Amino acid sequence: MHRLLTGPRQFGGAAALLLFSMSLLSPAALFAQPSLSDSQVAGRVEALLGQMTLDEKIGQITQVGPGAIGPNGPKPEDLIRQGRAGSVLWTIDSAQIRKMQEIAVKESRLKIPLLFGFDVIHGYKNIFPVPLAMASSWDPGMVERAQAMAAHEASVSGVNWTFGPMVDIARDARWGRIVEGAGEDPYLGAAMARAQVLGFQGPRLGTPNRVVGSVKHFAGYGAAEGGRDYDGCYIPEELFRNVYLRPFQAAIDAGVGTVMSAYMDLNDVPASGNKWLLQDILRRDLGFRGFVISDAWAVASLAVHGYARGPEDAAYRGLTAGVNMDMGSQTYLTHVAKLVESGKLPVSVLDQAVREILAVKIRLGIFEHPYGDPAEKDKVLNDPVHRAATRTAAGRSVVLLRNENNALPLKKTLASLAVIGPIADSAEEIKGSWSVEQGPAVSVVEGLRNKLPNARIEFVRGGDMQRLVPMPWDAAEGKKLPPLMPEAEMRKEVEHAVEAAQRAEAVVLVLGERASMSGEAASRVSLSLPGNQQQLLEAVVATGKPVVVVLLNGRPLDIGWAAGHVPAILEAWYPGTEGGNAIADVLFGDVNPGGKLPVTWPRATGQLPAYYNHNLTHFPEDGEGFTSRYGDFVTAPLYPFGYGLSYTTFRLSNLQLDQKSIAASGALHVSVEVENQGAVAGDEVVQLYIHQRAGSASRPVRELKGFERIALAAGEKKTVRFSLGREELKFWSPEAKAWVVEPEEFDVWIGGDSKATLHSEFRVTQ
Ligand code: BGC
Repeated sequence: MHRLLTGPRQFGGAAALLLFSMSLLSPAALFAQPSLSDSQVAGRVEALLGQMTLDEKIGQITQVGPGAIGPNGPKPEDLIRQGRAGSVLWTIDSAQIRKMQEIAVKESRLKIPLLFGFDVIHGYKNIFPVPLAMASSWDPGMVERAQAMAAHEASVSGVNWTFGPMVDIARDARWGRIVEGAGEDPYLGAAMARAQVLGFQGPRLGTPNRVVGSVKHFAGYGAAEGGRDYDGCYIPEELFRNVYLRPFQAAIDAGVGTVMSAYMDLNDVPASGNKWLLQDILRRDLGFRGFVISDAWAVASLAVHGYARGPEDAAYRGLTAGVNMDMGSQTYLTHVAKLVESGKLPVSVLDQAVREILAVKIRLGIFEHPYGDPAEKDKVLNDPVHRAATRTAAGRSVVLLRNENNALPLKKTLASLAVIGPIADSAEEIKGSWSVEQGPAVSVVEGLRNKLPNARIEFVRGGDMQRLVPMPWDAAEGKKLPPLMPEAEMRKEVEHAVEAAQRAEAVVLVLGERASMSGEAASRVSLSLPGNQQQLLEAVVATGKPVVVVLLNGRPLDIGWAAGHVPAILEAWYPGTEGGNAIADVLFGDVNPGGKLPVTWPRATGQLPAYYNHNLTHFPEDGEGFTSRYGDFVTAPLYPFGYGLSYTTFRLSNLQLDQKSIAASGALHVSVEVENQGAVAGDEVVQLYIHQRAGSASRPVRELKGFERIALAAGEKKTVRFSLGREELKFWSPEAKAWVVEPEEFDVWIGGDSKATLHSEFRVTQ
């Protein structure tokens, strides 16, 4: 489908928060869309709808790219003038956006403003860490503030709609899009979904300096078979509701204005033509009231899937299933008129699709304020508060995976340092997939040079890595992959790296993946370190020099060897614009890492899918004899979900439940004391897990049901409180076909990761 793409789609190789609220009070912010009642919105919608011709209605359900499609295709400007386009995607050119919006609101008959949609996923100009990294912060407040800044940058630029948040649960790290979401857990995923929607949109649509969000990809996309992007998903209803839908529910409860339907088959019916999914589940059960946009070209794809008979049938099936707007494929634009005129498609179906789109446009306030704010754009995009916020966010997102004998933090008295790795000096790769406007970023090498201006810092690439096939959009433009460094040269690079290591007091070895190796259409068959990085790693470690591994990657990788041989490993994911500085902050102890893994970290690709909240088995894996173990390898992951170290140590004690028995409609309070026992300040993410011991269905061994990231000064002690009520205890029972809280016994654990040992129990009565 990307073959048809004509507009810019930039993959840039893909949060001073206190000052943030002040930065929102710019003069441009002084308007506010008054909150409109449902009946006021409905009145305005009906008034418009009553005046619309068939073509104008079809226009509202059509999203076009910024350029003409095909050599003789209609120009978007002409379509807009005729009222035959309701939205434009993939442009961030403010002048072009302004021109198109002026055509819509001045030259089209009904003057209905356009929605300009773009993937503002983890920042607009100031790029925050990738979503998987932001989830590693376990700090929804920070995530909300970050997305509010991204929304502000987008809105002054004229982009009033973001295709985020992406909330797909991912249990298989081969799937490249794991980097775009919050990982494997429905509870953490729901917290991140809510935070992002509130950040993008504010407390309601029409909040000044925000945009409308689009929660995606509805739904189950992360369960792609074999981790292959776009591949079919088979998800039983109980798993779907208990795991995959929970973050969507959170986004909808937070008021998300639009939902993006997914590409793939869900239980043999394409998600973008799936009436059960888009109506029964989305609108009836989850209570969604905005409008549905298809994923790019997904309506046309209904025919490609072998589901629709052809494009006309695809238009019919998409619209009747509940996809209000067709992203990019022009299938609605081309076929809906004929469907209505022939009587096959009742005009009431079209009207309903249009109503929901108009209602969002009205609530968003774009009839009153259709444009970006050119006078503010430069100031907002270059706001030092935003840039500083990306550094803070990156520091809060890194996860310290290993730190034997306090190898970290490094001493600032180091006179020499070797920085080695194929992307260690890249100011592009460090931003990860989905970066919008290209602002300058700080590479790891630059960050370390900034931190130690007087030290001798020597950089050596040490080799290379590359995707095997170009990104589809690059291929469409005839772009070839840059050639991989020839083998002989790679061997020389390893030799140079070894020499540089020998000359230096310590080594920072930056390993991982190019940004294009994760994200869309970037699945991998193996989690191995790509290119010659494993050889590089072993050769550098063999020098005997103190080595710190820093990972830049979009998924857990096979780092088993490193975990056995390198004293310190820091997971930085793709940390964004200020990434290099943030990594240096952590390596030299100016920031104490407090991030935790939002995914289970497997030891080997063959362990996939890997997730902590699995059910108990007939022969549990920690038993003897017949167990659910692999016969040829360890079963346990390398690092458990929720795991991450700190430069200090925390002691959790005194787990208290205020009641040991509650009614199904009741709630109990859990408290725990957390003490920083080390010599430096640090953050601990206190995590609460439960397990229902018996019931109408087998329940997961553990499920996250509460967390809080707290900061503790050296020696400080705090009490953290959680509450467990219906929301936390309920599950969708395959027997009852309903949400139930069952009268059973429950375990509760609290700790710093999903292996927490501090334990108590309670009972739910009838
Ligand atoms: C992706 C979506 C994205 C859309 C628009 C699609 O290929 O699957 O996540 O929002 O393109 O860029």
